Amino acid sequence: MGKLAISGGSKVRERPFVSHAIIEEEERKRVNEVLDSGMLSGFIANAGEHFLGGKQVKEFETLAKDYFKTKFAVAVNSATAGLHAALGACGVGPGDEVIVTPYTMSASATAIIMMNAVPVFADVEEETFCLEPQKVKEKITPKTKAIVIVHLFGHAANMDAIMKIAEEHKLSVIEDCAQSPGAAYKGKLVGTIGDIGVFSLNQHKTITSGEGGFAITNDEKLGLKMQLIRNHGEVIVDNMEVENIDGIVGFNYRMTELEAAVSIGQFRRLDSLNDHRIKLAEYLTEKLSNFEGLILPKKSNVDKHVYFVYPIRFKEDVIGVDRNTFVNALKAEGIPFGAGYVRPIYLEPMYQRKTAYGINGCPFTCGYYGGEANYSKGICPVCERMHEKELMLTGVCKSPHTKEDIDDVVKAFEKVFQNIDELKSIEK
Ligand SMILES: Cc1ncc(COP(=O)(O)O)c(C=O)c1O
Repeated sequence: MGKLAISGGSKVRERPFVSHAIIEEEERKRVNEVLDSGMLSGFIANAGEHFLGGKQVKEFETLAKDYFKTKFAVAVNSATAGLHAALGACGVGPGDEVIVTPYTMSASATAIIMMNAVPVFADVEEETFCLEPQKVKEKITPKTKAIVIVHLFGHAANMDAIMKIAEEHKLSVIEDCAQSPGAAYKGKLVGTIGDIGVFSLNQHKTITSGEGGFAITNDEKLGLKMQLIRNHGEVIVDNMEVENIDGIVGFNYRMTELEAAVSIGQFRRLDSLNDHRIKLAEYLTEKLSNFEGLILPKKSNVDKHVYFVYPIRFKEDVIGVDRNTFVNALKAEGIPFGAGYVRPIYLEPMYQRKTAYGINGCPFTCGYYGGEANYSKGICPVCERMHEKELMLTGVCKSPHTKEDIDDVVKAFEKVFQNIDELKSIEK
């Protein structure tokens, strides 16, 4: 197969993989309708007819409610906003602790800090990369108020065990489904199992409006609170005769008509986009299954994995080179792979220095907390091992790629494995 590209040989693939969103006719038509109307947002911070936004936002929310079979869908302008609104609606506030995974995009934890509460990190399972229920249990204290569970990479977390723990300790459960719209756990769509499910529509997600997001719930109180938080709640409650005004401090988390117009067409294709991801990912699993030292995602009859990315656990002791060298060799062949995902969040400077709001250590060390947030290296060893040595990821299993594109990925693996001795000498 020739010399490795990392050593100066020719690449398996010259053509780049596609990374932009696929926009179709429905999105174009709707966006033009909105532009023609001149009403780019339907929201006003009033208790009247504009409190819930414009035509496209309402239509998008109806689509989401029908799909998830929930009473509420609240369109917002990012999943970060959705997580913030969800935590506010659940009554999380200063002095509370919220348990969250350290293996996620920063916003899953930052949203907790935005409520002046303290994120407590529990370790992940090595099979799903999602929170390990037993580790969650070990982190519960009298201050614990909620769990933010992230269905990472398109795979559901172990929700039966998480919900049991939450019920026993009376904790709210917010499902961060930014990477997993359409994924299912034991037949239930993720986002419909906990109290609130939050989704992202940012540029890199399965369906996108550039920026955007939404939250779903079956609970009327939570739904109304999220609507208030989205749209400057504190100046609206009087006219709406809302009695319980705890945690309704509002923001501008409103989705524009343009974003909603794009989201509608995208949302209608969610299942077919996921089906295509699954087809390509299962094809890749079949082709890579003969290589020793790669732990591939398992097919399940129970859960629906929607492969936001395709995760592989790399066994350095079996393969004989380290993961980063192997990933660099694949990248040199023209195959996009990431070594690890994000650094465990607690290792970021804000947590290490325990400084977020103001200069008094809020929310970590200021007066009303009184707990001891531990963000030391070593607190989540599985997550750290995945980050440092084991996990590798690619996002190529999606439209418009085809099995022919995946064949290039397989060819690159074959080439690197065939030249593993050459790679070992590079590593040294
Ligand atoms: C797991 C997770 N949660 C939250 C977010 C935040 O999403 P947004 O960019 O819509 O705020 C992301 C985005 O990457 C994510 O992957």
